Amino acid sequence: MAANLSHEVAAPGLGGPLLGNRDFDFLREFVLAHCGIALSEQKRQLVQGRLLRRLRALGLKDFSAYCELLRRDPDAEMGDLASAISTNVTSFFRESHHYDLLEQTLLPQWLAEKRRSGGRLRIWSAGCSTGEEPYALAMVLAEALEKHAPGVDAKILATDLSPQALAGAREGVYPVDKLGGVSAERRRRWFLRGEGSYAGLACVHPRLRELVAIQPLNLLHEWPMSGVFDAIFCRNVVIYFDKPTKERLFRRYAGKLVPEGYLFLGHSESMHGLNDDFALVGRTVYRKKPA
Ligand SMILES: C[S@@+](CC[C@H](N)C(=O)[O-])C[C@H]1O[C@@H](n2cnc3c(N)ncnc32)[C@H](O)[C@@H]1O
Repeated sequence: MAANLSHEVAAPGLGGPLLGNRDFDFLREFVLAHCGIALSEQKRQLVQGRLLRRLRALGLKDFSAYCELLRRDPDAEMGDLASAISTNVTSFFRESHHYDLLEQTLLPQWLAEKRRSGGRLRIWSAGCSTGEEPYALAMVLAEALEKHAPGVDAKILATDLSPQALAGAREGVYPVDKLGGVSAERRRRWFLRGEGSYAGLACVHPRLRELVAIQPLNLLHEWPMSGVFDAIFCRNVVIYFDKPTKERLFRRYAGKLVPEGYLFLGHSESMHGLNDDFALVGRTVYRKKPA
């Protein structure tokens, strides 16, 4: 009780309420059940600091009021809660070896096959954050389409659960100094430079927007997409998920890929010991095994 009380008084200098045991336990369970994110006790300070901003934005006096809001209407606050506690860090051509594999090997093969069969090509950027990943994929795809198969129906689906991240992805406007991973040639080709009050900003080319469909989606919920994908990029997303959530998600990804479809994970993520549907075929690159 004493420990709990000590967490419920305002912290001097922090200017806000503290996150008590009961509320933190509720939040941990809630976040695990709805976002798949396992928060350790060590994350209390971080969660408190980040959620304080949500409390202020919502005009709530303490964390108990925030937990009450989550109990009443879990779906309404889910995206903002997830944004507050997870990281949206991303960049253009992050982990560039994945893009090299696509450009040099996979897209030429896939597009040749689609041309012959008349099939369509689909790539899913699951956990797309502010759009750098799907737009980088779109640059590589647009160039490959021009070179190998202009008529092929090809699209990238980009999903995330964070409303703020999705708003950034839809806007598609980035500070020029965030284009570090993009070659000079691609910068010229795929970005429109801002002028006047937009100086220092770059906007993605309309052709990239055409190729990318941006949709909200919590990966733990139902997936409304009816078709299957040639490749799924789910990079730097499952890193905070607990083991059962990862196992379930990888099984579902296998069900959403074409035979021998590809799954790309982030640099510190692995499927080791979690799934038998895939074979490791490159650095954090997995191919679905034939049935
Ligand atoms: C670190 S970013 C990774 C962005 C990009 N994939 C990359 O590797 O650069 C992680 C993203 O996963 C999203 N995310 C986390 N949990 C999610 C979930 N349950 N459903 C959908 N997106 C989720 C976050 O909102 C965040 O935008």
